Amino acid sequence: MRLNALELTDYRNIRTAYFEPGRELTVVCGENGQGKTNLLEAVWMLTGSKSFRGAKDAELVREGAQFAVVEGDVEAADGESRIRVAIASADSGKRGRTGKKNGVDYGRATNLAGAFTAVVFEPGHLSLVKGSPEGRRKFIDAALCQLYPGYLNVLRRYQRAMTQKNALLKQFERTPDARALLDVFDASMAEAGEEMMRRRAAYLAQLAPKAETMYDEISSGRETLHITYEATCEAGKLLDALHEARRRDIAAGFCTAGPHREDMGMTIDGRDAKSFASQGQKRSTVLSLKLAEAAVACDVLGEHPVMLLDDVLSELDEHRQDYLLSRIAGRQTIVTACDPGLFERTTGRVYRMSSGFLTGV
Ligand SMILES: Nc1ncnc2c1ncn2[C@@H]1O[C@H](COP(=O)(O)OP(=O)(O)OP(=O)(O)O)[C@@H](O)[C@H]1O
Ligand SMILES: [Mg+2]
Repeated sequence: MRLNALELTDYRNIRTAYFEPGRELTVVCGENGQGKTNLLEAVWMLTGSKSFRGAKDAELVREGAQFAVVEGDVEAADGESRIRVAIASADSGKRGRTGKKNGVDYGRATNLAGAFTAVVFEPGHLSLVKGSPEGRRKFIDAALCQLYPGYLNVLRRYQRAMTQKNALLKQFERTPDARALLDVFDASMAEAGEEMMRRRAAYLAQLAPKAETMYDEISSGRETLHITYEATCEAGKLLDALHEARRRDIAAGFCTAGPHREDMGMTIDGRDAKSFASQGQKRSTVLSLKLAEAAVACDVLGEHPVMLLDDVLSELDEHRQDYLLSRIAGRQTIVTACDPGLFERTTGRVYRMSSGFLTGV
């Protein structure tokens, strides 16, 4: 997958910009608050998804403007296309994001899914290591949703059964036939839950060795990352596990067992990364996971997504930076950084962002 050119109008602090990233590495440098992340976010909008910073659509429109427009020339294995995403401001009278591909109206931008694929790293993703298990489950589930469109349905079926079961557990003593109802909800949770566990296990079996190898290379073999799937129970045993948890569930008033409580374990040299890893080690871990996510997507979809790396180099020592900038060969990668000196060592194309003005260097 490749982005050949990008045109922006009224996107965040960027009034208008023309961006032509190189075939491999492109660096966008500039001081704090100039619009580097805004540019990366604009590229991401071509995927049809919402902002990776969790911003509302209207916040993406330049203050005082009615619409933001992001237009990209994209090259995929099956040919070239022009993708256009328009984002309405709060007072435009229109709503949200709409998409066009080759001039054809796609309605909501999410319908563009698959036309342009990208993997993004941004500093907020450090919560993948630092934060709660929920963030790690979301990472796995989001990747699975992109790779297997049917997975979203499985998630929804599980969620629906769990919501019903939780409602029942809250008024268990007052509900007639509560136990029979629990059996029904447990059966639905087990059916969808087994499928979730099967997919998650298969995904981690693909992801973990790739991420571990990346980490080994980033740290020049000095440290070992190990990733495990911390499943709620063995495959095929979810219904039993739900039954075993029943007494605890009733006492707690909610479902205490199931794939909604799973986690992805990460250790560096045998120590839990969440509690023991340094800042640079956490960053290296997330980066390894993101590079591995892209590599798995490439295996499944037959095409490597564009890598968008926001502020990825800070906190990495020179060796780790060099590794990162050298392993980019063959895949399009767009990196932002404050320190332009970092990139004197690279052959990448360099842009400078200053107060929303983008210029080639
Ligand atoms: N809708 C908007 N309209 C106008 N300006 C906006 C809008 N949204 C954000 N901005 C401005 O964009 C700037 C931030 O841009 P961005 O986050 O891309 O900075 P950055 O170059 O990545 O900085 P850093 O190095 O600190 O990460 C801020 O000055 C902010 O006020
Ligand atoms: Mg930024």
